[in-house]
Amino acid sequence: MLLAGSASVALCKEIGAYLGIELGESERLVFPNENIFIQLKESVRGQDVYIVQTMSSPLHDNFMELLIMVDAVKRDSAGRINVVIPYMAYTRSDKKDQPRVPITARLVANMIETAGADRYITIDLHTGQIQGFFNIPGDALTAFHLMSDYVRDQNINNLAVVSADLGFAKKARNWAEKLGTPLAVVEKRRLFNTGQSEALTLIGDVAGKNVLIVDDEVLTGGTIANVVETLKREGAQDVYLAFTHAVIAPQGVERLRGLDIKEIITTNTVPLPPERTLPNMTILSVAPLLGEVTLRAHEGRSVGELFNE
Ligand code: R5P
Repeated sequence: MLLAGSASVALCKEIGAYLGIELGESERLVFPNENIFIQLKESVRGQDVYIVQTMSSPLHDNFMELLIMVDAVKRDSAGRINVVIPYMAYTRSDKKDQPRVPITARLVANMIETAGADRYITIDLHTGQIQGFFNIPGDALTAFHLMSDYVRDQNINNLAVVSADLGFAKKARNWAEKLGTPLAVVEKRRLFNTGQSEALTLIGDVAGKNVLIVDDEVLTGGTIANVVETLKREGAQDVYLAFTHAVIAPQGVERLRGLDIKEIITTNTVPLPPERTLPNMTILSVAPLLGEVTLRAHEGRSVGELFNE
């Protein structure tokens, strides 16, 4: 049984089409006091249920809706409750790296479990260790294969992969290995009081090369703007950008629009309304990936096999 949360209706329909099944029906109401009400329109008793809901804007409404859907499904005696969260928010809050701060990613994982989820499926967590915040099993997937296959097929010559920050360098190394290119890394420091980022140093050589910047998400576009500026200063030619989660704020869209980027490659883990898409954007669908993993999870077959693991 596939159920769509209101943030992921289009994606869930695509997953349903991949699996050849109709979506389960549910009704959602929001009362004047902002309380969300969900009613399942068909029984899920004994079923293996997959609730697809991404954590995009309006984030807290969507997250609360997910928890309420899990509760509704649990109280209808579902057999197993799986949450499919293509983009998990709060994952940048994964450690106590300053005094008196929370670890919100852990709190989010606890809330999902407490609501009653038995398993989770997600894509490109900000860091792999976040899996350890869950006590339930899950599949932490990646859109790396989807995006890197696409880039490889573009046959861009004289390419170098550039990690947008040190934290992404290991994943950027996978990109460089797969595409057979050199790797460069931009060292970035985030200024905590303003949330702004400032690109500092380029480690590696991009002079005369086309470059592919890789990252996990773009929000304000501040990181990418700094990286592009640094790369251009260091003599880079055409700039390409690939990232999984397009959680782009309105000012981020304008910032990206103003940058000299030949192609922006991203995915639909987060719905991108027309006003937040750009002519140079290629949006790859994660529906076949989620559909195949859902099928394998349902049938108790290996997911690693999909990626030759
Ligand atoms: C940070 O560690 C992430 O990998 C992204 O670089 C960051 O979330 C992008 O945010 P913004 O677009 O606001 O600079």
